Amino acid sequence: MTQILSKSIVLTGIMGCGKTTIGKLLSGRLGTAFSDTDKVIEEEVGKSVFEIFNDYGEQYFRQVEEKVVGKILDKTAHIISTGGGSILSSKTRNAIKLKSFSIWVKCDIHIISNRILNQGKRPLLKNGKIIETLIKKNEERIRFYRQADSHIVNNNPNVEMTIENIVKNLSSKEVLLK
Ligand code: S3P
Repeated sequence: MTQILSKSIVLTGIMGCGKTTIGKLLSGRLGTAFSDTDKVIEEEVGKSVFEIFNDYGEQYFRQVEEKVVGKILDKTAHIISTGGGSILSSKTRNAIKLKSFSIWVKCDIHIISNRILNQGKRPLLKNGKIIETLIKKNEERIRFYRQADSHIVNNNPNVEMTIENIVKNLSSKEVLLK
């Protein structure tokens, strides 16, 4: 059954915390559409995120990311998974605040590191220092992640339970309408 959202739900958090997995499952559970901002960026540019960083640099990626997140937030309310660095843009942070209900997906860095080991698709981790880089990025960004309307912990491999907790929370906050 499709449930009605009063506004879009934006998932934020450090890379590998589970935003895309949760976003897809939540969209299936609620019967609503799902966008992954990295995927949309890849479609728009015609290259993978890795290639965009490599060929054009991070600054170019951030410019495209800001535009893409802005456009996605103007669509009908749905579930949106964002790249971990999207909140570095103040324009993006304001748009998220204004137009969505945001959820910060928190996850232990060591759990993330085990999950994404050898995936090789994240340009910021290509230096091989996964734990050090995740800790540094998290420290730099945590003040922005904290601004989310809601915080959830995704350490448990039982993602279904996490989804049910999110659904309960969305109903209580009247983001999910009956
Ligand atoms: C980034 C996170 C990535 C992707 C890019 C940069 C970041 O998305 O946007 O590699 O700066 O944290 P995920 O958070 O989905 O891994």
